[in-house]
Amino acid sequence: MVLLPLLFYAQVALALVNWPQLSPRLTTVTRSQRDIAEEIPIDQLSTFGLSLNTLVFDKKGYTTDALDELPAMLAVGVQTFMLDLYWNEVTSKWQLCPAPFPGNATMDIAPKDLFWNGHNYTCGVLLTLGLINAWINTYIAGTNSNMDANYLQLLLNLKSIKFPQNSSQIYVPRSAEFASLGNSTLSDSVASLGSYIFTPRDLASFRNSAVPRTGSGAYYNRSDTRMPPLSIFLLNDFRRVLINVVSSDLDESSSSSYNISTQDRDTLFFDSTLPTVIDTADDNLYSSCLDMINGSDLTSSYSNVSLNTHFRFLMDGDDDLFTNETYMNYIRCGHSVILNSSEYVFEKQDYNSSQNHSVGAIWDYLLPSSYWSWAIGQPISGVNNTVLTNFTDDQPDTSDRELRAHCVALNPEGFVLSNCYDPFHYACQNESDPTDWNIPRDLKRRYFDAYKPGNCPDGYRFTLPRLSIELLALKARVVDDELPFPVWIDLNDITVSNCFVSGGPYAQCPYQQTVTRSQLVLMIAPSFVVAVVIIILIFMEKILRVTPIHTNRRRHWKHIINEYNEKHEYEGVPS
Ligand SMILES: *[C@@H]1O[C@H](CO)[C@@H](O)[C@H](O)[C@H]1NC(C)=O
Ligand SMILES: *[C@@H]1O[C@H](CO)[C@@H](O)[C@H](O)[C@H]1NC(C)=O
Ligand SMILES: *[C@@H]1O[C@H](CO)[C@@H](O)[C@H](O)[C@H]1NC(C)=O
Ligand SMILES: *[C@@H]1O[C@H](CO)[C@@H](O)[C@H](O)[C@H]1NC(C)=O
Ligand SMILES: *[C@@H]1O[C@H](CO)[C@@H](O)[C@H](O)[C@H]1NC(C)=O
Ligand SMILES: *[C@@H]1O[C@H](CO)[C@@H](O)[C@H](O)[C@H]1NC(C)=O
Ligand SMILES: *[C@@H]1O[C@H](CO)[C@@H](O)[C@H](O)[C@H]1NC(C)=O
Ligand SMILES: *[C@@H]1O[C@H](CO)[C@@H](O)[C@H](O)[C@H]1NC(C)=O
Ligand SMILES: *[C@@H]1O[C@H](CO)[C@@H](O)[C@H](O)[C@H]1NC(C)=O
Ligand SMILES: *[C@@H]1O[C@H](CO)[C@@H](O)[C@H](O)[C@H]1NC(C)=O
Ligand SMILES: *[C@@H]1O[C@H](CO)[C@@H](O)[C@H](O)[C@H]1NC(C)=O
Ligand SMILES: *[C@@H]1O[C@H](CO)[C@@H](O)[C@H](O)[C@H]1NC(C)=O
Repeated sequence: MVLLPLLFYAQVALALVNWPQLSPRLTTVTRSQRDIAEEIPIDQLSTFGLSLNTLVFDKKGYTTDALDELPAMLAVGVQTFMLDLYWNEVTSKWQLCPAPFPGNATMDIAPKDLFWNGHNYTCGVLLTLGLINAWINTYIAGTNSNMDANYLQLLLNLKSIKFPQNSSQIYVPRSAEFASLGNSTLSDSVASLGSYIFTPRDLASFRNSAVPRTGSGAYYNRSDTRMPPLSIFLLNDFRRVLINVVSSDLDESSSSSYNISTQDRDTLFFDSTLPTVIDTADDNLYSSCLDMINGSDLTSSYSNVSLNTHFRFLMDGDDDLFTNETYMNYIRCGHSVILNSSEYVFEKQDYNSSQNHSVGAIWDYLLPSSYWSWAIGQPISGVNNTVLTNFTDDQPDTSDRELRAHCVALNPEGFVLSNCYDPFHYACQNESDPTDWNIPRDLKRRYFDAYKPGNCPDGYRFTLPRLSIELLALKARVVDDELPFPVWIDLNDITVSNCFVSGGPYAQCPYQQTVTRSQLVLMIAPSFVVAVVIIILIFMEKILRVTPIHTNRRRHWKHIINEYNEKHEYEGVPS
């Protein structure tokens, strides 16, 4: 009973060798960035991801082993996965391997070397989309709480494996077992994700629902494409995955080709139903991104971007690969970046060349640059402890107001934790256009005061940017008005440390009732230690008992166990 969790822990630890784990700080960043964006439609959010084909299967083979790293990727927050799906025109099944298996292939995990269309592929018979879905289901089950839920995007490229007329015979499966592998329709292939899939029907019913008259909902209703906000997607509809077919090489006129059915169209999105941009990184795109970041191009209104473009995916490739710098800037410009280069060479000394090839090493390097909101390295709590000035008027009753920084301000690099009592300019947002900001020119206020009513012009209120584009627009406003950074935004962790909320100094943390994971680990860990110690002691006692021992030996061990538990304040010693 005790050993089972131990084994589980050992397995997790093994699987994560070479993998970054989200530090408590990045966990806070991920969660706070998700929380502030809850009103934002999902097509506007910046995510990061990779092409499984280029970065995983082409390197490690199309085998079940190649998926070992998938759980770790999900755990660090990779949200977007691009995947090529192949329609085998002989077996009439969807498969992940780009080459057909010979009909007499053995049904085992041994990787098979296949030569097809001028390429060598290493493929395992058992690797199916169902297996990827199983990992995704495991991840979703493990994060199925308001605190941890996040949404994933599966981008599919559909391709066909065509056969010359006279050569297809050897690819006909010889055994029923072999023939039963894989699924023969797209909707069956993803069926195991069940109700986690956000389907075109869900979208239709969202679009038929009432439109909010105020706030972000009303603003984004001006868009030609109304998508659900993150909170509706995750917490109302309990959806987790959006599957989007972004390209198709299927030739539907051919008799052996796959025909997309109405059931498929009810389950997956095809490019015609969901306006999706997939750009490739290039110099022009990057320079217009820098313009948006520098705020030098205020006229090309930011609202044009957030209302007229959707799912702004951006891929790199062998010719134009991301550096940590371009990667970060593209995310801050509102793109969802997808890694698609076969090699990344980051100048980091302690990586030897073999580690440079591992996906874990790549994310380890890029993760700090993967967020649009916080500046790199933030939030660092309690570091910049500007000594408090002697404000005395109506200070809120916060127990530790002495030294720690608990309020968030905007710097050119992003959000930074600052001392709530420092007087800064503060950001007022137009209530009907989140890309329109006003910063009262001659007023500097402490965070607590900025929040008070009447500090913003009519039609504006003190709040925060909830989307990368809104942040860029705010920065551009500060630069254009020639005002100094930092500028207060409405975000703080006054009530519960590391739980960032907006709504003023008294806003409550929504997770207050929830035990945080690190607390949970703290709660579990000591009892684990005790359990292990007890097992060892019992074990030793057994050995000692078969050997002739002094009778008070036994008392001796019992005494040690008791002493250990007294020292660690545990009760209920098994005796
Ligand atoms: C499968 O059949 C091919 C000939 O069609 C033969 O060369 C190959 O050895 C066979 N493989 C197995 C595993 O039986
Ligand atoms: C494929 O593999 C075979 C045998 O290992 C080798 O002779 C051939 O050159 C390879 N072809 C390509 C395109 O890599
Ligand atoms: C298939 O037909 C082509 C020409 O149509 C021929 O060149 C080729 O050798 C044939 N292959 C087999 C396996 O019969
Ligand atoms: C899809 O194929 C797998 C076998 O690979 C099978 O177990 C599963 O039931 C199929 N799903 C559907 C919906 O047919
Ligand atoms: C906004 O919502 C209303 C009410 O559902 C709808 O009639 C209108 O077409 C929407 N506007 C846009 C631009 O989609
Ligand atoms: C797809 O449709 C075409 C024409 O409607 C038909 O000839 C073909 O057999 C269909 N393919 C499959 C796999 O059902
Ligand atoms: C934008 O700022 C970056 C550095 O912050 C600078 O390298 C770049 O030249 C600037 N671009 C423009 C168009 O001003
Ligand atoms: C608005 O966005 C569209 C689509 O990206 C673009 O073609 C157009 O030039 C933009 N207009 C302005 C004024 O920036
Ligand atoms: C990119 O990596 C280099 C070298 O490790 C580092 O000096 C630089 O600060 C990084 N830039 C960003 C934006 O993370
Ligand atoms: C991703 O990279 C692969 C390998 O370099 C390339 O064949 C493919 O076209 C790329 N995909 C996109 C969408 O650029
Ligand atoms: C501390 O905050 C002040 C403004 O309140 C800022 O000027 C300074 O750079 C910050 N120091 C550090 C180490 O972040
Ligand atoms: C308190 O504030 C006043 C006026 O702002 C200033 O003159 C005084 O030096 C401050 N006292 C301390 C201890 O900082």
